[in-house]
Amino acid sequence: MSLLNVNIDHVATVRQARRADEPDPVWAAVQCELAGANGITVHLRQDRRHINERDVRILKETVACKLNLEMSLAEPIVRFAETIRPQQVTLVPETRAEVTTEGGLDCVRLQKQLTQIVKRIRRKGILVSAFILPDEKQILASAEAGCDAVELHTGPYASAKTDAAAEKALNRIRDGRDIASAAGLIVHAGHGLTYRNIRPLARMGGFCEFNIGHSIVSRAVLVGMRQAAEEMIRLLSEG
Ligand code: PXP
Repeated sequence: MSLLNVNIDHVATVRQARRADEPDPVWAAVQCELAGANGITVHLRQDRRHINERDVRILKETVACKLNLEMSLAEPIVRFAETIRPQQVTLVPETRAEVTTEGGLDCVRLQKQLTQIVKRIRRKGILVSAFILPDEKQILASAEAGCDAVELHTGPYASAKTDAAAEKALNRIRDGRDIASAAGLIVHAGHGLTYRNIRPLARMGGFCEFNIGHSIVSRAVLVGMRQAAEEMIRLLSEG
């Protein structure tokens, strides 16, 4: 069964809507862990629109499960990761205007910079994943740069408007999974996954973990975080 990392960024988004001190993403992380989640994912964005350094520091001290820090290649953030030492870092592209992460990291174009950063982060004992489109060139460039894992971008599948488009996107993900495994990479997947669209991916198999955020936090507003995380874990286990 694939493991679930819950991305709790949007708990912090609600907090930041009032620049208040609640809801605390650390409390949400504890609920996810009690529900059986394997990991907690947070994205420390350069504009600090939701998660901040304090959250990452306290999460690292608090959660016993995996802490997966999503981050760009920006030098201050890389230095922060080296200091905090989460169990896993997922390198993502980041632009200030985007509402959420768009596209995958261009590991082909950024190969030289990526190789140096991956080496620095791995030296701290942190597992490094790169968030990429399921494209052969990107997968091989991630492996070449020394990444331990890739997170295949499921956004195009999640946003497909027809069954045929969804099927095509799923086939690309399946091919990507196989190419990545053959290259010796651990395979993760995420972005845009929901209670309604997770089943085909859960059934496909071969993914070590899924990173799911918005849909779980949205459900948690109505049913509570523990129940929301449990329901998603059940869907993954049924796959
Ligand atoms: N994986 C990565 C790399 C992401 O950037 C995000 C969004 O922060 C997610 C997974 C989770 O996406 P969603 O919130 O759509 O589930």
